[in-house]
Amino acid sequence: MTGRVEMLGIMAALPQELGDLIADMRATGEVETITLGQREYHVGEAHGVRCVATLARIGKVAAATTATALIHEFGAEAIVFTGVAGGVHADVQVGDIVVADTLLQHDLDASPLFPRFEVPLLDKARFETSPELSALLVAASEAFLEQAGDTLRERFTVSRPRVHRGLIVSGDRFIASHDAVLALREVLPDALAVEMEGAALAQVCYEYGVPCAVVRTISDTADAAAPASFAEFLMAIAGAYSSGILSRFLRSRS
Ligand code: ADE
Repeated sequence: MTGRVEMLGIMAALPQELGDLIADMRATGEVETITLGQREYHVGEAHGVRCVATLARIGKVAAATTATALIHEFGAEAIVFTGVAGGVHADVQVGDIVVADTLLQHDLDASPLFPRFEVPLLDKARFETSPELSALLVAASEAFLEQAGDTLRERFTVSRPRVHRGLIVSGDRFIASHDAVLALREVLPDALAVEMEGAALAQVCYEYGVPCAVVRTISDTADAAAPASFAEFLMAIAGAYSSGILSRFLRSRS
């Protein structure tokens, strides 16, 4: 995508993952909230960018229906997803940030009719994000870690957080065992992180020709400690990361 969009869609699964976005929108000006399909869509302006922000809730169906509504009901011309994920690659640690350049549904398997992971009749397993939006998210994430890294290290037990860019995989499963992580690494050695929505958003955006981007902070390493690590990270830090990244990203687009 080049140039500015008139209306940017911003999605997360859970309230903590949107950080202060809706409060920032209310502080800036009027926010219209519209309820549709049991979700609230907040239309207004944040950090100089006209946007519609919403919570999809968890899972691929939730993400796909919400993305479709953002495009068709609210005129979103690009969509950004922000939230947490489990680290899959050995180099990816709690507190790191992963920006997707491609996304894939790790639980999609219509073999032998179609190759494993391929979306039937779409001839595609991996869905690319917008290089421009993703580059801006990488820059915003790096600036956030540069400026907030010391505070994050002091207040929370994250050590030397880093920004990664690459494959994020999505499925309707919370991954919480080392064996499951090893299985993912074996079939998808380039997978950096796992979550439950991003690839569904990317498929919808591909089908409608709408640019998208996904940024995830690593809340756990998808092993037996994942449920506790996820819950603690979500309550304690996820909002600070999302607010820090989104505010810098939006200002770079305004
Ligand atoms: N989101 C955050 N952590 C996750 C995990 N371990 N599995 C799936 N989605 C996640």
